[in-house]
Amino acid sequence: MPTGEAATDIQPHSGASSVSYVGATKRYGDSELAAVDDLTLEVPAGEICVLVGPSGCGKTTAMRMVNRTVEMSAGDILVGGESVRSKDAAQLRREIGYVIQQIGLFPHRTITENIGTVPQLLGWKRDRIRARSAELLALVGLDPDLGDRYPAQLSGGQQQRVGVARALVADPLVMLMDEPFGAIDPINRERLQNEFLRLQAQVRKTVLFVTHDIDEAIKMGDRIAVMREGGRVEQYATPAELLMAPANEFVEDFVGADRALKRLALMRVSDIDLWEAPLATVGQPTAELRAKLDAPDVEVPYPLLVDDQRRPLGWLSERDLAAPTVPERPDSPLGPVLDRDDVMRDALADMLQGGAQYAAVTDAGGAVVGVLSVEIISEFLVSSAAKVDEHPAVERPLGAEGSDD
Ligand SMILES: Nc1ncnc2c1ncn2[C@@H]1O[C@H](COP(=O)(O)OP(=O)(O)O)[C@@H](O)[C@H]1O
Ligand SMILES: [Mg+2]
Repeated sequence: MPTGEAATDIQPHSGASSVSYVGATKRYGDSELAAVDDLTLEVPAGEICVLVGPSGCGKTTAMRMVNRTVEMSAGDILVGGESVRSKDAAQLRREIGYVIQQIGLFPHRTITENIGTVPQLLGWKRDRIRARSAELLALVGLDPDLGDRYPAQLSGGQQQRVGVARALVADPLVMLMDEPFGAIDPINRERLQNEFLRLQAQVRKTVLFVTHDIDEAIKMGDRIAVMREGGRVEQYATPAELLMAPANEFVEDFVGADRALKRLALMRVSDIDLWEAPLATVGQPTAELRAKLDAPDVEVPYPLLVDDQRRPLGWLSERDLAAPTVPERPDSPLGPVLDRDDVMRDALADMLQGGAQYAAVTDAGGAVVGVLSVEIISEFLVSSAAKVDEHPAVERPLGAEGSDD
C-alpha cells in the first residue's frame, strides 16, 4: 500500500458481492402503479445478471435502487448481505461501478482526469491516479496514451470503454450497467460486448446489466431476468434454460420464434455427438474403403482423405473410389473445416455458406475428430431432450477474435 496517503475506504477489494432484492418496491410520486413492485431476486457474486424487458418495465429503476440514485419505497436490497439502506449513499456510489449509455464523461477533463474523478475525491496522489488510469485503459483495450486527450477526441466506442474503465477505478464489488452499449453501432457493440466478457473473465465482478435486446441478454448473461411492467420477473434463468423452456407465453414471445437457432449460439461443436467418416490415406487400396461404405452403420457416405497426422485433405468421390488406390489429390475439395471449439451457430453458418452437407471437425492440433453434418444439427434442433452444456458467459465462445461479423 502506498505510504503517505490517507487511508481510504476504497482499497482494492479484489472480490465481488452478491446482490439480493428482497421485496424491493418503487413508487414515483403518488403514482398508483409501482414502477417496480415487490421485486425479489438473488444475484450470486461474480456473475452477470441481465435485466431484460420492454421499455418502461422498470429495469433502470430496479438497477438504480442498488446504488440509491433512486430511493426504494419499500423492501430492501442487500449487497454482500448488508442492506444498502444502512450505508452512506455517497459511499455506496463509490463502491458500486456505474456505466450508462450516455457515458457521462466530463468534456473539459482529460480521460485520465475523468477516470480519476472518484480517486481524486478520495485524495489519491496524481501519480497513483495516472498509474491506475493507464492500467485501466490497457485493461479495456485502449492505448494508455489516450489519457491526455479529451472525450470529444475519442470515438463513441472509445468513450464507452473509458466509461467502463472509470466504473472499475475503485475496484467495485458490484457494477451497474444500464444499456451500456445501446448507442454504439452494431459492429462496435459486438466488439465492446466481447471485450467486456473477456474483461469480466479477469475481474469477476457482480454485474447487473440492463438491456432491452434479448440477443445481448443471451450473449452477456450468466442469468437473465425477463421482466414486464412493474418490474415483475416472468422468468429468472440461465440463457439455455430460457431458450429451451420459456416459462410462459410472454417469455416465449420475448425470446422470439428463432430461439432454436439462438440455442446454437450457446453450444460448441464438441457439445454434440459427431459422426464418423471412413478415413482414407494416400495409396490405400480403395476396396477397403468401399467395404466400409457398404457397412450398414456407415454414417458419412464419403471417405475423408487425411495425412499421416490425421489432418484432413479432401473428400473422395465415386471416381476416386473407382481407381485401385487412393489418389494424392482427391476429386472433391475439403470444404469448411471446423474446430471442435467453434460455436455451433458459426459452424452452421460456415457449412451453409460453403454449400457443404458435411464438414470435417478437428482438434487444436488439426487432427480429424469427427464430422458434423447439417442433418445432425437439424436433428438436434428438433429434439427437446437436446443437451446444452452450460458455460458461464465469460467462458462461452464468442466466435473468432477480431472478427467483425
Ligand atoms: N423519475 C421518474 N418519475 C416518475 N416516473 C418515472 C420516473 N422514472 C421512471 N418512471 C416510470 O417508471 C416506470 C419504469 O421506468 P424505467 O425504470 O425507466 O423502465 P425501463 O428502464 O425498463 O425502461 C415507467 O413507467 C416510467 O415512466
Ligand atoms: Mg431504462
